[in-house]
Amino acid sequence: MRKIRVAIDGPAGAGKSTAARMLAERVDYKYIDTGAMYRALTLLALDHDVKWDDEIALVELFEKHTIEQSGAITLIDGIDVSTKIRTNKVSRAVSIVCRHAKVRERMVGLQRQLARTGGIVMDGRDIGTVVIPDAELKIFLVATLESRAKRRMKDLENMGKPLPFDEVLANIKHRDKLDSTRAIAPLRKADDAIVIDNSELPIEEEIDMLVALVREREHWE
Ligand code: CDP
Repeated sequence: MRKIRVAIDGPAGAGKSTAARMLAERVDYKYIDTGAMYRALTLLALDHDVKWDDEIALVELFEKHTIEQSGAITLIDGIDVSTKIRTNKVSRAVSIVCRHAKVRERMVGLQRQLARTGGIVMDGRDIGTVVIPDAELKIFLVATLESRAKRRMKDLENMGKPLPFDEVLANIKHRDKLDSTRAIAPLRKADDAIVIDNSELPIEEEIDMLVALVREREHWE
């Protein structure tokens, strides 16, 4: 048996991070949230007054600071920013910040390093297509727009930062558009990814399914 690499991609609010976290726990793998890494750089840009479209300055920020990511915890220069990166302000800016080729190049380099060891579940938009195209298991998670917006609303409520449904829906729609139409590494299903629509699927069943897929592939030669 060998520890494999699992790539989970899909649009905003499809439940990637919940699935990735729970799966990683069940199979005793490490979970890496790549969206959190782009969010961390976005937070740095907001804090340092760097414009979202200033590619060179964003790369400089990335090089000056250290971003660390593992599961629910994201650090910038050793400081925990896990909650700060989830605000709506960051959510609005992140899809612009992550559009730049040079920003993505740096971030993908860091993500590949984190995935090298195997025994990881990594979630994002381009994991199966760009970051680890040779991942042993690729999942493309989808759900209806409505159920994605409802989930995101619940997350924000739990964080004590509730927003009206319409606003959450608009943010998700906006990010869907930006993520799937951008020139570099757009959100796209890898040809060999397994599509799971979890709009009506209880989370326990979804995780059981994913665990079974991991176990099967761990025994592949
Ligand atoms: O809010 P949600 O969990 O869906 O998004 P996220 O995973 O935190 O990622 C935030 C944003 O980062 C996304 O809207 C994408 O624009 C971008 N992203 C990306 O471009 N590539 C990745 N591998 C992960 C996230």
